[in-house]
Amino acid sequence: MSDHTTIGGIDYGPLAALVGTWKGDKGVDRAPEPDGEERNPYYETISFEAAGDVTNAERQTLSVVRYHQVVSRKSNNKVFHDQVGYWLWDPADNTIIETFTIPRGVAVVAGGKLAPPANPGEQLVFEVAAEAGAPDCGIVQAPFMFQQAKTTAFTHTLTVRGDEMEYSESTILDIYDKTAYDHKDVNTLQRVG
Ligand code: HEM
Repeated sequence: MSDHTTIGGIDYGPLAALVGTWKGDKGVDRAPEPDGEERNPYYETISFEAAGDVTNAERQTLSVVRYHQVVSRKSNNKVFHDQVGYWLWDPADNTIIETFTIPRGVAVVAGGKLAPPANPGEQLVFEVAAEAGAPDCGIVQAPFMFQQAKTTAFTHTLTVRGDEMEYSESTILDIYDKTAYDHKDVNTLQRVG
């Protein structure tokens, strides 16, 4: 990886493209309701910070970017989703991992492989997935959620082109009388700092 991915002496590889504060106001959320679903236009701020590296079992070294996502409903300007997590990158085999938690009692470890761009400067596509019950990348949830609003799978595709980012994520839920309901969130953001 070239020098511009190095911050404070640590090579963040593709994760360097995330670092900064991003804002977007084109968000659309599709969420379950007992009698159907709701669609919520939203705006949000996501801040990503370079957070060093870690070594696992003396063999795997991961670069770490920490993030905080704060999402507000356009209709009333109230925060209705808050998420904290990390993106991790293993330079040995281009593995990427997103770990995060949301304040409903749900935590996710999602993994994937980054396809390196064919040419420098091309867009980067981060694609990760998790499945409840999987032995490695998975989803853990508090008892109420497990019984009443279970997340069975999660996929997230995040694309960065310079100072523009877009993402699409699907949280698959068993809730109310719905099985495998696709709770979907999409947005486009710009780097503002
Ligand atoms: C931009 C991102 C997101 C937004 C704006 C959002 C928003 C919402 C909204 C509005 C509801 C319905 C709440 C209600 O009517 O009671 C909901 C439900 C839910 N969300 Fe999200 N969500 C987001 C991402 C996620 C993610 C990443 C997960 C987990 C991986 C998640 C898990 C859930 C679960 C389990 C429920 C069911 C709880 C319920 O409806 O009572 N959400 N979300």
